[in-house]
Amino acid sequence: MPESAPRRPLPLLGQVGGGRSRATCALRCGDACFHPAPNTSANPYFGDIFQKALSRRSALRAGAVGAGVSALGLSALGTAAADRGPGRPHPAPRPTFTSVQPNTDDKVTIPRGYDQHVIIRWGDPVLPGAPEFDVDAQTAEAQEQQFGYNCDYVGFHQLDDDNGLLWVNHEYTNEELMFPGYTDGATADEEHVRIAMAAHGGSIVELKRHAGTGEWRLADGERAFNRRLTASTPMRLTGPAAGHELLRTQDDPDGTLVKGMLNNCAGGMTPWGTFLSAEENFNQYFSNAPADAPNARYGMGTGLAGRRWDRFEERFDLAKHPNEANRFGYIVEIDPLDPGSEPLKRTMLGRFKHEGATIRITDDGRVAAYMGDDERFDYMYKFVSAKKYVEGSRRHNLTLLDTGTLYVARLTGNSPAEEFDGSGALPEDGEFDGSGEWIALCTDTESFVPGFSVAEVLVRTRLAADTVGATKMDRPEDFEPSPVTGKVYCALTNNSAREPGQADEPNPRGPNKHGHILEIVEAGSDAGATEFAWNVPIVCGNPEDEDTYYAGFDKSKVMPISAPDNLTFDKDGNLWISTDGQPGALGINDALHVVPVEGRFRGELRTFATVPVGAEACGPLISKDNKTVFLAPQHPGDGGTLAEPTSTWPDGDFPRPSVVCIWHTAGRDVGR
Ligand code: FEO
Ligand code: CA
Ligand code: CA
Ligand code: CA
Repeated sequence: MPESAPRRPLPLLGQVGGGRSRATCALRCGDACFHPAPNTSANPYFGDIFQKALSRRSALRAGAVGAGVSALGLSALGTAAADRGPGRPHPAPRPTFTSVQPNTDDKVTIPRGYDQHVIIRWGDPVLPGAPEFDVDAQTAEAQEQQFGYNCDYVGFHQLDDDNGLLWVNHEYTNEELMFPGYTDGATADEEHVRIAMAAHGGSIVELKRHAGTGEWRLADGERAFNRRLTASTPMRLTGPAAGHELLRTQDDPDGTLVKGMLNNCAGGMTPWGTFLSAEENFNQYFSNAPADAPNARYGMGTGLAGRRWDRFEERFDLAKHPNEANRFGYIVEIDPLDPGSEPLKRTMLGRFKHEGATIRITDDGRVAAYMGDDERFDYMYKFVSAKKYVEGSRRHNLTLLDTGTLYVARLTGNSPAEEFDGSGALPEDGEFDGSGEWIALCTDTESFVPGFSVAEVLVRTRLAADTVGATKMDRPEDFEPSPVTGKVYCALTNNSAREPGQADEPNPRGPNKHGHILEIVEAGSDAGATEFAWNVPIVCGNPEDEDTYYAGFDKSKVMPISAPDNLTFDKDGNLWISTDGQPGALGINDALHVVPVEGRFRGELRTFATVPVGAEACGPLISKDNKTVFLAPQHPGDGGTLAEPTSTWPDGDFPRPSVVCIWHTAGRDVGR
């Protein structure tokens, strides 16, 4: 087996502060990290009670899972945990390419032996007949037909060997990089606001395989499946909260039909061929929120929103339309095979700052969706459907996300609380690990949260979860299950606000500048289980720093990683992790990494690609045949302006968020 490539030292810069430029912070998440964390609940950081009870159980052997896991589950979990770790053979091909070195280059850098192609850029025509892009003469009418801004989640529905449908989220807009002379929302032209609205949402484009390789290009011809969704596209609210008075507005007295989706970050694909798209920082679009507890818990501003969309659409003024914001913050299901279908906002999956939703089938054939609420000190959720998935029955499967149970996670460590001082030092038992439970908040017919109806749990999910002892996590982002083992992984991107005294076993650093990865092993490996074991295989940062951990792998042979965000797997069970935040945290461009999570190479993290200056590495997705990596560099040139861009990727003139595909020129599986 080839050895890991040597790692060059990181440049001596940027080891201060954390994350993105202030411009991106303001535009994407409404400066979330500069406000006090909205979770002020008295919820324990770690379930103090559970921790104290557990630390008394000195008889608990290292590696065992804690209280609350049944005998059956315990034995199943123990077996699963024993499958990994040093000394075990790697069960599948591991990545062997030579790592891309950390850099600050204004391009997508890929390993030797690979090639890349920019599939589609901001402004490229999507709908047949769409005008060609002209950055100096852009209109809202053109933008509605063209590829939107800031591509985030990428999904791919392959129709056959050579044809497929690409779904891309357009999370938000960087107006200062889109419009000449743009200053702020208070003075923005209406046309600029309308363009920005049209550049949100998502796109579906038909792709065709090129030359029998892993390269995919835009299809030409009729492109009947191509579609644009925007901040104005009509969308149907479904599930138990649809029609509830909290969702009714002057324009929609039935509370079932919403205009548009906002800040769609990551997402997922369902086994029945639909895409899930997650509305994240929706709060920042609304002005004048009434000062009440629910609005505070969702970070709704009582002043004017930066973009000032309320100047041209009154629904964004919550003083006049207080329920409008309750209609955002959902998982949206989109059927790419029916271009005329209404996008469906699934209230059963709760309302919060949804990062994404990733589906696994339970042992008895139902579907589970794993979901993060991306906010400092917020929670991890799981939905399990009431009905079973039926292969081939599209109509039935399109109802699965409307009935079932919504859970929130409580994690308990198996090491004494006093071993966690925020430094990230491993506890005496050698692992950050423990047990957890999925606490049911409600089903579609019954609430388990005193004082909350079903609809209230689903619309004010954060407040409901506050009452049941959910564990405050370090910004839960994307989830992804391994297709090989069924273990589930969650990216915890960072948490600048965690104090040393708030560190706990699942979130062992305070502050947590670089984030970590959580591995969840459901009891019996069943996605429908309500108990699980967990551990932290990777604590991110500069591997030369003591507070990093790569599953015990030799840290002289791994690459730096900061702010893990999006996750995906290749078919061999290697975990791919893209990042959002390195320019501030490590002084290098964001990247796409890959790491085995089983066997003796568990923790051997390599860097597959780096993205241009200012960009975050979104997407990523590996095609089912393992021949293509889809990657979506978002907000290249972040921090600059259209007149003075800090990036000119991809064309050398001004930055354009784009989707690229990467493949091995000799036709190897990606990562080899
Ligand atoms: Fe839009 Fe949580 O990243
Ligand atoms: Ca431990
Ligand atoms: Ca993200
Ligand atoms: Ca993912």
